[in-house]
Amino acid sequence: MPLLLDLLNKMPPAAARIFEGALQRSPALRRQLDRQYDALVADLDASLHPYRGRLPGYTRLPAQGRTRADILKEMTALQEEEQVRWRDGFVSGAVYHGDRAHIDFLNAVYALNSQSNPLHFDLWPSTVKYEAEIVAMTAHLLGAGATPDPIVGTVTSGGTESILLAMRSYRDLGRSQRGIARARIVAPITAHAAFDKAAQSFGMELVRVPVDGGYRADVAAMAAAIDRNTVAIVGSTPSFPHGIVDPIPALAELAQATGVGLHVDACLGGFVLPFARELGYNIPDFDFRLPGVSSMSADTHKYGYAAKGTSVVLYRGETLRRYQYYAVADWPGGLYFSPTLAGSRAGALSATCWAAMVSMGESGYRGAAAKILATARFIRGSIERMPDLVVLGDPLFVIALASPTLDIYRVLDAMTARGWSLNGLHRPAAIHLCVTLRHTEPGVAQRFLEDLAAAVAEVRLQPASKGGMAPVYGIAATLPMHGLVEELLKRIVDALYRVE
Ligand SMILES: Cc1ncc(COP(=O)(O)O)c(C=O)c1O
Repeated sequence: MPLLLDLLNKMPPAAARIFEGALQRSPALRRQLDRQYDALVADLDASLHPYRGRLPGYTRLPAQGRTRADILKEMTALQEEEQVRWRDGFVSGAVYHGDRAHIDFLNAVYALNSQSNPLHFDLWPSTVKYEAEIVAMTAHLLGAGATPDPIVGTVTSGGTESILLAMRSYRDLGRSQRGIARARIVAPITAHAAFDKAAQSFGMELVRVPVDGGYRADVAAMAAAIDRNTVAIVGSTPSFPHGIVDPIPALAELAQATGVGLHVDACLGGFVLPFARELGYNIPDFDFRLPGVSSMSADTHKYGYAAKGTSVVLYRGETLRRYQYYAVADWPGGLYFSPTLAGSRAGALSATCWAAMVSMGESGYRGAAAKILATARFIRGSIERMPDLVVLGDPLFVIALASPTLDIYRVLDAMTARGWSLNGLHRPAAIHLCVTLRHTEPGVAQRFLEDLAAAVAEVRLQPASKGGMAPVYGIAATLPMHGLVEELLKRIVDALYRVE
């Protein structure tokens, strides 16, 4: 790890904070820091751009267009190369179904609908039908039939957009009904980063509350964080980092008692937990069956098995949903309205989502959930018996593991070297595997466990290796000030967009 960052990393938090401030102000130290950022990003650069030097890179349009056949040939080769890791189950999350026949079916549906844009509802009423039915089917799955309230919603582009929209709706409801100037959201630290994005984007205050020893939302601590400006509290089913289902019944009671909204982020679990319950897993109520739940997000493009690019945001009642809409009556471009952040949208993605849902049906989702939950249980049990590793909390299908004895990020890098793409977590240092249908294929879970055992053994023998993500996480996990790490992350984004 570069010297200056390494030094900061090892300092006591208070000293590091002072040093970080000085670092930002001193041009000489700043230049040194810049060089260190460059070195860290350069370390990652080759892995970010593996095609450099192998394929033509465009910094301007080609003077003459390439032939379609040539483009298709190049893309086919890339796709074949890139699909191997996720197809063979080396990846956490990312591709949730991945069966060839399912993908071919979705691709055929996409091709049929590739010109559709729901903004032009008059031209593509079929897409309007698909979207309304996606929302209705998702709402039904999440308790719409069990409450007298109407459960309504819209299709969005993904979990993040669903969360952004719900938070903005709460902000605007709070502003108009309660006169709140700066709305507060109270969320466990484990709630998805999309809640930070919402707060940053819409000028809201996000209060992050520590979780309990089992990585579950601490309801008493959340209650203490609710103030007069609070418009909503948040729970996850389950959370992204540790795959833990928050105590939604208690949060729903808290929301009702304090008169604030409760958003249940079921982006991961929306299409798994309802079936897990049917399969006999112990899942307390987490959806609109609880009167205190006022909105939910559920990702069709994860365990809904649609192509990437759709999610559903749901609300109890029309009022909250109305705050989400955008309508303008005095624009020279005509009377304009749209339900979500985007204007034009890919109707084909909604068609594909509808087709995925209707082709899977309840029995398809139930069968998929059974396989995923059983595989995850097997993996979890096996990890719990491994020396040097511990499973965090009591997870269902996202399994986070840490090590009391080894640097878990070295284990992450050793797994990466074996072809795996797992997620690094921090605070506490951990990694996770989000179990998908890919891992339910014969031999995949076993291979994961064997590779994990080998990775742990390797790190035990050689605890200090170079490169990879370990140094980046090393900094991020311990540095008291976030500014330096966030700048490093932004530099990685810059690097993603660099063409040579
Ligand atoms: C619990 C949870 N919420 C929200 C999101 C954000 O979803 P997306 O990446 O589709 O925007 C994720 C993504 O993994 C998630 O796991």
